[in-house]
Amino acid sequence: TDQSKIRNFSIIAHIDHGKSTLSDRLIELCGAVEQRQMESQLLDNMDLEKERGITIKARAVRLDYRAEDGNTYALNLIDTPGHVDFNYEVSRSLAACEGAVLIVDASQGIEAQTLANTYLAMEHDLEILPVINKIDLPAADPKRVKEEIENILALPAEDAPEISAKQGINISAVLEDIVQNIPAPQGNPSAPLKALIFDSQYDPYVGVVVYFRVMEGTLKKGMQVRMMASGASYQVLDCGYLRPLGMDSCQELTAGEVGWFTASIKNVKDTRVGDTITGAEVPAAAPLPGYRPAQPMVYCGIYTEDGSKYPDLRDALEKLQLNDASLSFEPESSIALGFGFRCGFLGMLHMEIIQERLEREFDLDLVTTLPSVIYEVTKTDGTVVRVDNPHNYPDPGSISEAREPYAKVSIISPPDYVGNIMPMCQDRRGVFKDMQYLDTNLVELHYSMPIGEIIYDFFDALKARTKGYASLDYELEGYEKSDLVKVDLLLNGDQVDALSFIVHREKAYGRARRICEKLKENIPRQLFEVPVQAAIGGKIIARETVKAMRKDVLAKCYGGDITRKKKLLEKQKEGKKKMRTLGTVQLPTEAFMAVLKLD
Ligand code: GTP
Repeated sequence: TDQSKIRNFSIIAHIDHGKSTLSDRLIELCGAVEQRQMESQLLDNMDLEKERGITIKARAVRLDYRAEDGNTYALNLIDTPGHVDFNYEVSRSLAACEGAVLIVDASQGIEAQTLANTYLAMEHDLEILPVINKIDLPAADPKRVKEEIENILALPAEDAPEISAKQGINISAVLEDIVQNIPAPQGNPSAPLKALIFDSQYDPYVGVVVYFRVMEGTLKKGMQVRMMASGASYQVLDCGYLRPLGMDSCQELTAGEVGWFTASIKNVKDTRVGDTITGAEVPAAAPLPGYRPAQPMVYCGIYTEDGSKYPDLRDALEKLQLNDASLSFEPESSIALGFGFRCGFLGMLHMEIIQERLEREFDLDLVTTLPSVIYEVTKTDGTVVRVDNPHNYPDPGSISEAREPYAKVSIISPPDYVGNIMPMCQDRRGVFKDMQYLDTNLVELHYSMPIGEIIYDFFDALKARTKGYASLDYELEGYEKSDLVKVDLLLNGDQVDALSFIVHREKAYGRARRICEKLKENIPRQLFEVPVQAAIGGKIIARETVKAMRKDVLAKCYGGDITRKKKLLEKQKEGKKKMRTLGTVQLPTEAFMAVLKLD
């Protein structure tokens, strides 16, 4: 394809501002798919997959658009995931583009992700085209939103298309804007190959499908390629373009083009997002900048409710990992929960997605432990350990310094809610950095906050206390020294390893008390009294008691037959003992889940 007739772009937006809806409209307007077909595509995705023997994931599509100037352009629309957990994937997708369409909801205006994504696009020197969406809503105020865009983002917005993606109003203005204002790609088609991987996906029939953008040179069918970071080398079996309803094969893709290739690759680990594809025979001198391996931020233990399902859980995790290079897992065992896995995730959303897929696609009933970040501990002997499972936290006596990860947090909100937000952040040990008025009705607050405090309920709490108006963005800032303690939970005097957690000393009492209360509520009464205790290094800091459901064995004894009484009591004690050991282990799953859902 003639480079001057190619446009590579992403659509960026705050969540719910209409990215998917506009994408669908663009696809439809380019005549690629009829409305009816599109609906059936969504509904019958599974059948479609079977038919084609290939998994369709519209991470990028190529549209042919006949512009008003009479030329036909190839528009490559590259999708970006919409959540902070996947910021790195977003950055690689943007690196594959020359421009970005920035959607802003005409009734909401600029929100946190609008800013965060715009900054990202600016970092990649993209041409940014603002588009005002949802003008059909009664609350739409395009004029105000345009002013916001000019004042806050310093982007010219006067001529920004005002559209309704939902009702299909003014969509062609967006396409013309793209053709006229996003620069065509550059790059020498005969230079050594350099192509950027922005996504890859495992397909059971053809192996991994690698999605890439050619920056320099040409990728040809049959050619031997090498991934510069992973070192893996493969022969390209097939390559082509991505179409809305499937994949077209072609002989080669040249500089500026976006497409896919397959090579019977067994695992996405070989083709990680951000890696550079080059020719094995004539390799590029240096890879494209910006590669970084995925780094899990949140860990938790995953177990099956039914211990015998452990092998199924392992198979399921292995299958998911084929497709998700950022999911990590290692076997671990817990006295309370049996055999399971310690899994690492990019963030809480990633964790929830994986848990849900395990339950839904693999039909597993899971028990998960409290999520935890990775702590760093320098021991008195000078060694440094990274702790992803609270149970393995070193003895207090052997610790010379403990550190926890902090995030740079940005919160954007109408000024009215600042009074609610600040105490919340403080309560979560946030260190206030600064506050700026972006506009008369929008402020941005910056905090440095422990990630361990964010992962619990911060996002939900923030939404609740700002009627949903505030939005949140965060990224890892680094590790800082912290006064951390490990809290153990004891049931009937026995430690339940899966319930241990690491927390800042100041927070230890509060959280310990709440967990004990939750456990008390959820443990059914047993024949004996069950103390529920929380302890730091053997010192009890909180206690609740599950009262015994006492069977009155003495009721049968009339009068003073003391020996018989004694015998009965003796017997009951034995019974108690049995129950005790059982009781410790047989903490009902519901009780576990209740504790884990604390906060
Ligand atoms: P995520 O995929 O969750 O990031 O959201 P998104 O940004 O892709 O937004 P999506 O396209 O899913 O739209 C969010 C909601 O806004 C949906 O309920 C859409 O129907 C609605 N919506 C999108 N465009 C318009 C519009 O022009 N007018 C109105 N009234 N609603 C719209």
